[in-house]
Amino acid sequence: LFPQACTLVIFGGAGDLSKRKLIPALYNLALDGLLPTQFAVIGFAIDELSDEAFRDFARDGIERFSRRQLDEEEWQDFAEHLFYQQGDFGEAAAYAALKARAAEIEPRFGIAGSRLYYLAIPPSFIDTCVFGLRDSGLVAPADQDLPFTRLVVEKPIGRDLESARGVNRSLQACFAEHQLYRIDHYLGKETVQNILAMRFGNSIFEPLWNSKHIDHVQITVAEAEGVGTRAGYFETAGVLRDMVQNHILQLLSLVAMEPPWSMRADVIRDRRLDLLQCLRPMLSHEVDRQVVRAQYASGFFRGKDAPGYRREERVAADSTTETFVALRLFIDNWRWAGVPIYIRTGKAMPKRVSEVAVQFKAVPHMLFNTDTDHPLEPNVLALRIQPDEGLSLRIGTKLPGPKVKIYPVKMDFRYGSTFGDQSPEAYERLLLDVMAGDATLFMRDDAVEASWHWIQPILDAWAASGERWLPEYPAGSWGPIEADRLIDADGHAWRRL
Ligand code: BG6
Repeated sequence: LFPQACTLVIFGGAGDLSKRKLIPALYNLALDGLLPTQFAVIGFAIDELSDEAFRDFARDGIERFSRRQLDEEEWQDFAEHLFYQQGDFGEAAAYAALKARAAEIEPRFGIAGSRLYYLAIPPSFIDTCVFGLRDSGLVAPADQDLPFTRLVVEKPIGRDLESARGVNRSLQACFAEHQLYRIDHYLGKETVQNILAMRFGNSIFEPLWNSKHIDHVQITVAEAEGVGTRAGYFETAGVLRDMVQNHILQLLSLVAMEPPWSMRADVIRDRRLDLLQCLRPMLSHEVDRQVVRAQYASGFFRGKDAPGYRREERVAADSTTETFVALRLFIDNWRWAGVPIYIRTGKAMPKRVSEVAVQFKAVPHMLFNTDTDHPLEPNVLALRIQPDEGLSLRIGTKLPGPKVKIYPVKMDFRYGSTFGDQSPEAYERLLLDVMAGDATLFMRDDAVEASWHWIQPILDAWAASGERWLPEYPAGSWGPIEADRLIDADGHAWRRL
């Protein structure tokens, strides 16, 4: 699959996502010679901008957020493909103007009318935009190969099961499922894609990848930043919706799915869906035992006083939005029966670090380190998602010397030292895939709904509890004591990262 000639229309083109992620990603693709020459970008939004002003906006985004420096000559070439169209998403006239503008721009680049519409907008606008597109005849018939129309939708897809179904219904009223690309940017991360490569491109892991050999799995997605400027959105979401429902369950589905028989998009997506469907449903009376939610309180972090969540701008003084979640789940199938999966994620934690750690069972009969002072440490395979991307395997080795003592050492692979240069950003890969029509790394309607289906009882139990106070953890710490107790109860401990 290779990227096809097309116009990328960015709804919300003058917004934050466009500036921080989309435009820098496109620029890096251009630098790598990966963009088709028959290609144009139209920023589409309510703001009054000229093409020139949009190019300045794009340039600023690249200068500030691109992983590579702006190269004057490359920029000039790239900038010629950037355009802007002002419009109100709620008005038919805006779509008519967009259509006319595209029809005027496309022939210059030899683009025959294929379009990607990228909704980089708040979710409340999704309906308006998709119906606007459909009603102005901007969507190509689903069975037409060329020119094609594809729609890219950002998370969140709904805020619970019912609203997610509603979003899917609207999308499908205007587009066929194969025209839809629901982004979960974690799937575009190199290290996340590497999970499949590691599991199914090597012969040594898969035989051990089951409840016979694996003791438990820990997934950590920690962020050092507090809620920052995003409180407006975050207040109504919370970390369960913001991180667990999408990114973390997608990560888990790659770690735990059955082997696909081909790399075809729907084969992989079927296997991911299977996995989501066998997550053990959380019963309402179990939620308190299996899920810990908490909120960061003020703390002292990196030499500075850090405010508590309730004191952040645009956060209610009595907010009960969770900024941290730790939970234990089980996968009810043959492979994973009885293996606990521990997940923790939060804002305002000591550092930004994400990893999946697979801890193996102890040897069946212990010959070494039988004294209780230095018990043998278990084998752990840690997939470091970010930063310091890589993979390490902890193994026991004989400590040199006359005594037979086992010492834990690490076999380590680092992207940085092996491959040098920074890996492409998730959005680079994902944009390229949409242009190529490869939906492997995107979420299908059924997977989105399956993950909400699993999350819903937790949301319901929280709503029913009417809790006015959540456990707290100081900003810059690893979460509340309740999270330690959760894993402690099973005789395990969170990894020290
Ligand atoms: C987003 C969430 O989807 O992912 C943010 O809405 C979060 O709250 C971000 O900070 C994390 O992404 P990354 O790529 O920085 O790990």
